[in-house]
Amino acid sequence: MASIDTLTLPLDQTSAAEVAAVGLEYARVDADGDGFRPFQRAVARGFLGGESTDDEAANSRKTLRTRRLTGVFDRAGSEPEVPVGTIDSWASTLTTSPGRTTDLWSISAVTVAPTHRRRGIARAMIGGELRTAAAAGFALAGLTVTEATIYGRWGFSPAAWASDVVVDARRARWTGPTAPGRLDFIPRDGIAERLHAIHERVRVRRPGSVPGWDGRWRGVAGVAPGDKEAEKVRAVVYRDVDGAERGILVYTLDETDDYSAHDLSVRALFADGDDAYAALWRFAIEHDLVGRVKAWLQAPVPPVQWMVADRRAVTATLTDHHWLRVLDVAGALTSRAYAAPLELIVRVDDPLGFAEGTWAVRIDDAGEAAVDAASADSAVDVDLTVGALGSLLLGGVRATELASAGLVRGDARTLAALDAAFAPAATPLLDIWY
Ligand SMILES: CC(C)(COP(=O)(O)OP(=O)(O)OC[C@H]1O[C@@H](n2cnc3c(N)ncnc32)[C@H](O)[C@@H]1OP(=O)(O)O)[C@@H](O)C(=O)NCCC(=O)NCCS
Repeated sequence: MASIDTLTLPLDQTSAAEVAAVGLEYARVDADGDGFRPFQRAVARGFLGGESTDDEAANSRKTLRTRRLTGVFDRAGSEPEVPVGTIDSWASTLTTSPGRTTDLWSISAVTVAPTHRRRGIARAMIGGELRTAAAAGFALAGLTVTEATIYGRWGFSPAAWASDVVVDARRARWTGPTAPGRLDFIPRDGIAERLHAIHERVRVRRPGSVPGWDGRWRGVAGVAPGDKEAEKVRAVVYRDVDGAERGILVYTLDETDDYSAHDLSVRALFADGDDAYAALWRFAIEHDLVGRVKAWLQAPVPPVQWMVADRRAVTATLTDHHWLRVLDVAGALTSRAYAAPLELIVRVDDPLGFAEGTWAVRIDDAGEAAVDAASADSAVDVDLTVGALGSLLLGGVRATELASAGLVRGDARTLAALDAAFAPAATPLLDIWY
């Protein structure tokens, strides 16, 4: 299924009718057609960005050519070719447990023109994506969010969290492992391909992760047009004792009032193994003339906290990051491996209907799940919302925790059994935005 071409899937007719009812038009946009620049302008405006140059547009076209672009148009407006609503989507791959992945309908570029807000345009576009994804057989949809208040109403809920990390480099003092390999600077034009290669190895072991793409890596590497910091981008790779590249740190240095205390901003730190992680963090923290190291999208409790003399020199601010939406309960639950056996009847409440129902879930001793529809009058062990199911899926939050918020209902024994079964083999993390 991973090879499905989402560009050939039909336009959702329910959404088309919804927007037509308010005098608007719902239409696909061809990244190689005349509609692309106006689409891109609308997205930039939606995210409060500036107008793109021809070079920037050509660069983003390379990525968006592989995506399903859909717009909502107000043909009565003064710029009828510029959509008043935008969304894009593509078939991605979600790691559900180490070494195991499943198809993910990824959504991005959700914008509605400020002139047309709160008329149901986002509702029509997101509904269209979910219906199209479900009809194409996707068990899960996912996105990263600007605001935590928007997507819950469509059944999305956080499933992987990430921390923004700031290290007071002078206070920290490295006490962590000394990695046996070596560090070397690499030229800027070699960064993107290494980011890709190392990230590909890392992301398949991390629940919650998805692959990056060339445009993403070129952006991190400072070789995409329009990057005002491009000249400052530097990168080092960690090589193990056999000479294999096992980690990469891409960063910039920013002057502060104190020349001896620059900020080192991490654009990416991907480590294939503990040695690479320690070596790259040590390099950043011990860098001369650096007072602060700032890194985004790190593990919720970043291991670097355990590698310094003063752990309070490391501040980690946790945010929800990867939001998932279960479209097919059996498909979602069977996509991962579990930590303990389980047998129960689950009732899922989904106002949009995709995941609504009662399900018999059986996880065997090998950690493999089998899920079958159960009759509506079955004795239910666990009752939960579709959002809660999405949050539980990767094991990033415990059922007992969601139960205390009233989002999962079951007796104490059942909740404990859920906690044991769903315990993740690695803490979920999504280390990029999409
Ligand atoms: C967020 C955004 C796409 C919403 O578009 P919209 O067309 O105004 O939304 P709709 O009219 O379809 O509203 C659907 C529902 O979401 C709610 N909603 C919309 N935007 C919201 C927000 N920012 N916060 C909370 N609720 C919001 C509406 O109140 C409505 O709720 P209801 O059904 O309970 O009445 C739009 O405001 C926007 O483009 N924002 C800037 C870009 C952005 O943040 N995009 C999200 C990227 S992750």
